[in-house]
Amino acid sequence: MRILTVVGARPQFVKLAPVSRAIARHCNETGRHIDDLIVHTGQHYDADMSEVFFEQLRIPKPTENLAIGSGTHGVQTARMLEALERSMLSHAPDIVVVYGDTNSTLAASLAASKQHIPVAHVEAGLRSFDRRMPEEINRVVTDHVSDILFAPTPTAMDNLENENLADRAVNSGDVMLDAVLYNRVLARDRSDILTREGLEHGEYVFVTLHRPVNTDTGNLAVLLEAIDRIADSALPVLFPVHPRTASRIRESRPDWQPSPRVKVVAPTNYLDTLRAVDSAALVITDSGGLQKEAFFLGTPCLTARDTTEWPETIAAGANRLVRVDVDSILDAVTSILSDGPGTSDGNAALEGGQFGDGNAAGKIVTRLTRG
Ligand code: UD1
Repeated sequence: MRILTVVGARPQFVKLAPVSRAIARHCNETGRHIDDLIVHTGQHYDADMSEVFFEQLRIPKPTENLAIGSGTHGVQTARMLEALERSMLSHAPDIVVVYGDTNSTLAASLAASKQHIPVAHVEAGLRSFDRRMPEEINRVVTDHVSDILFAPTPTAMDNLENENLADRAVNSGDVMLDAVLYNRVLARDRSDILTREGLEHGEYVFVTLHRPVNTDTGNLAVLLEAIDRIADSALPVLFPVHPRTASRIRESRPDWQPSPRVKVVAPTNYLDTLRAVDSAALVITDSGGLQKEAFFLGTPCLTARDTTEWPETIAAGANRLVRVDVDSILDAVTSILSDGPGTSDGNAALEGGQFGDGNAAGKIVTRLTRG
């Protein structure tokens, strides 16, 4: 059997790692050979956005890197579509596996479905119901052209059912929970990010921002001011800056001088991110993945967006949406910090069971290899 996996952006490397490990385990246990081909579109190309994840998560080197790089949505997706079509024609896979909701996901699912190659979508059924988000378009289109839909939660299963896709859906659980459970102890042992940045356990706020709605609009200035005010009036802030955000700050706020209590750092690798989230008093983010990682690790989260595709984290009381407005953000921070630390052992998600039992990857591989 030949499985061709397409990835391109940072969160997809994290999701691929447990599945790739489960494929290797399946081969060992059954004596069956599976060609596990990985095609990297090159959507993310900086070493700290890509290579370091492959090394740290021990993902096999990509069979091919298409080196597509950045561009407008149309240009980036079109270049990927063309290169992926060629790649799929030459590798002739039995199935193509795609992850999440990036332009790489969309291009790969279109390229494969047009060649009548079955497509499996891992992290299917998520909906923010906000079509202004490019990711929402990518999710909806990918789900509708895919043949096997691996839904991470019962809510995602319901969303698929509402779009008449229930017959292709499998509730596998969430591969990101698998990844957190596998790596959280490693992160505590191996990451020295707290010492490096001079931070104390439970005594700082971890912030990430990269959504165009926050970086490419007036929201950016508001968020930078909020970060400074949190650092000055509450706790120090650790702020790893995504390349999109860095370039927008250079363009629109070149004079920004962060408060001395804001630690502005390059994008953090996976183990440093887990460690930093695990030890933070609070996470503020607009990332989908971090909302869950905070929940899995028992750290409270504030999401600087109007919607989320992870309503389970809100229902569990672990995550709140906050309007992008300095006072609203400061009020929410004060209220969360006065509630004291979140749960510390990171088992909340497992106990709730909505994200599966930590073996989503095993279930995915069992289904993929059943044919
Ligand atoms: C992409 C995904 C988003 C995901 C995010 C994770 C889409 C539509 N968006 O957003 O869903 O949450 O990845 O990080 O697919 N850049 C670099 N170096 C890199 C990569 C990007 O400098 O290695 C810069 C470029 O200026 C580029 C910008 O970041 O134009 C944005 O990159 P892009 O791939 O378009 O999307 P992300 O914002 O990273």
